[in-house]
Amino acid sequence: MKIGSVQLASPFVVAPMAGMTDSAFRRLVKRHGGCGLVVTEMVSSEGLVRGIDRTLEYAEYTEEERPVSIQIFGGDPEKMAAAAQVVEGLGADIVDVNMGCPVPKIAKHNAGCSLMREPEHAATVINAMAKAVKIPITVKMRAGWNDRSRNAADLARRVQDAGAAAVTIHGRTAEQSYSGSADWTLVSDVARDLAIPVLGSGDCIEPSHVVERLGGGVSGVLVGRGVLRNPWILAQAADLAAGRTPREVTLRERGQFLLEYIDLLLREGVDESAGFRHVADIRPREAKGRERWVINKLRALCAWYSKGIDCGSHLRIRVNSATSIQELREIVDEFFLRPETAGHMLAPEGDAQSYV
Ligand SMILES: Cc1cc2nc3c(=O)[nH]c(=O)nc-3n(C[C@H](O)[C@H](O)[C@H](O)COP(=O)(O)O)c2cc1C
Repeated sequence: MKIGSVQLASPFVVAPMAGMTDSAFRRLVKRHGGCGLVVTEMVSSEGLVRGIDRTLEYAEYTEEERPVSIQIFGGDPEKMAAAAQVVEGLGADIVDVNMGCPVPKIAKHNAGCSLMREPEHAATVINAMAKAVKIPITVKMRAGWNDRSRNAADLARRVQDAGAAAVTIHGRTAEQSYSGSADWTLVSDVARDLAIPVLGSGDCIEPSHVVERLGGGVSGVLVGRGVLRNPWILAQAADLAAGRTPREVTLRERGQFLLEYIDLLLREGVDESAGFRHVADIRPREAKGRERWVINKLRALCAWYSKGIDCGSHLRIRVNSATSIQELREIVDEFFLRPETAGHMLAPEGDAQSYV
């Protein structure tokens, strides 16, 4: 599949997820294979234009993640155009616009899914960006704002005409948030109507779901929560799509993933060779608070990662009470690498499968 001039080796994509799809996580998923594109966490256009350090960090990526799409949010055409130029200056392959976020703190600023309520204005934003940059612009939207306004088809056509190179639709409305299920029929209908690639998002938890959603005009599939539970899901989907038996993932490999994630987070910005990380400017990294930050990141990931595995809630509780990196490593080691010593594997508890 091609988005503008960017060729994707696989139609399976790591969905943008605020707080979750940081560069370290994206790298690890990418290393397992099957992943055609990664999208960053959403980044504020305002923060990018003003050069706010924290915002710029969200936009960082490393060479091995390519092709990489940086997702921005905002509602002001001029600022979005300027932010797209910052993204282009960072060397990203694609700039994605968030028109799906239902969170009030984003939506009330005329950004995120609010843009779906003003389709004409949304197209103006894309038009301004298209004039400002050469890299492909993509748009991620929902089915609509609410059931009375399921206007993804109309908005998708408008942004296509304004210069977007692809759109992604998460087939739920903003009002639905994560309730109900994603409407993939809508995604297919829009895909058949548009000349640019249409990708879909929503509810792919098993590798088979990812593969089944392709086709019917749908060019690619973004996986969000499924990749947080199982970072191998894209590789397994690629196996299935190629007619192979999906690779099995051992408990040891699952533990190793967390240990590597801890290591990558700890090393972020430390002792990296010049050019390793694409940053907007060179600035010293504060070591202070890093341990706390890594612990919080592990807690956030384990809230998802622990679902669907036996005794996952034990892992969650223990990770949530860890107070040092050393302790975190020991918990992971015991749970995944030496389960026979932990005792917690003896009584599977039928861990809840719901993930929102
Ligand atoms: C924790 C979390 C954070 C998310 N952050 C973003 C975001 O920053 N930008 C965005 O466009 N979508 C975001 N999403 C939505 C996902 O990209 C995806 O469209 C949605 O979760 C449905 O797909 P899934 O069922 O595969 O998770 C987020 C979802 C989750 C669960």
